[in-house]
Amino acid sequence: MIAIAIDGPGGAGKSTMARALAKELGYIYVDTGALYRAIGLYMRRKGIPTTDFAAVAGNLGGVEVRLAFRDGEQRVFLAEEDVSDAIRTQDISIAASNVSAVPEVRAFLFDLQRDLAKKNHVVMDGRDIGTVVLPNAQVKIFLTASPEERAQRRYLELREKGLEAEYDQVLTELKQRDYDDSHRAVAPLVPAEDAIMVDSTGLTREQAFQRLLRTVQDKIS
Ligand code: DC
Repeated sequence: MIAIAIDGPGGAGKSTMARALAKELGYIYVDTGALYRAIGLYMRRKGIPTTDFAAVAGNLGGVEVRLAFRDGEQRVFLAEEDVSDAIRTQDISIAASNVSAVPEVRAFLFDLQRDLAKKNHVVMDGRDIGTVVLPNAQVKIFLTASPEERAQRRYLELREKGLEAEYDQVLTELKQRDYDDSHRAVAPLVPAEDAIMVDSTGLTREQAFQRLLRTVQDKIS
């Protein structure tokens, strides 16, 4: 099986690029952030403070999270409920970042992610795919862009969905999340030693995609 790992900070375009690459190559696209978000949503709904590591770890037993793939599109489920849309709010972004720092949460999601890559050719995106989840991935990409450009993209994305957003607030939260994701004790956001660095600042979606596609084709051909 072939695995392409795409890591990087929030808003760098990982999911857009990973989805497009998967489509081009006929692989499945696995968005691992959705798993952390689903756990964040579960804890929020139960009223568990997501910064309380012990409480989050202690309540993992009730979490039934799974991914399903329909027509190449990933859907995320909590028990029988499709929560793919409910996890996309700013509040759940923060809850997801909080729970992702809990070692038990990362361990809880590890096998699920690994198994998908054992059974399918995958393009998997996240923060620790090349470093922890799939250290033997054939291609590892670390995709970045400036904080301002990432905040602008997130802001437009939220507005497009009709959600309330202020650019300054999006930028502040994004910088905070970058900091938290890179400084946590377990599986912090760092490029794998053998990752190919791609900076998409100033590139159009199509230019970024072509650059990534060439990078991947060079590696797997
Ligand atoms: O990519 P995203 O914004 O959907 O991710 C939500 C949060 O989950 C993010 O703050 C960091 C965390 N995450 C992680 O720790 N490891 C991953 N492989 C994917 C996401």
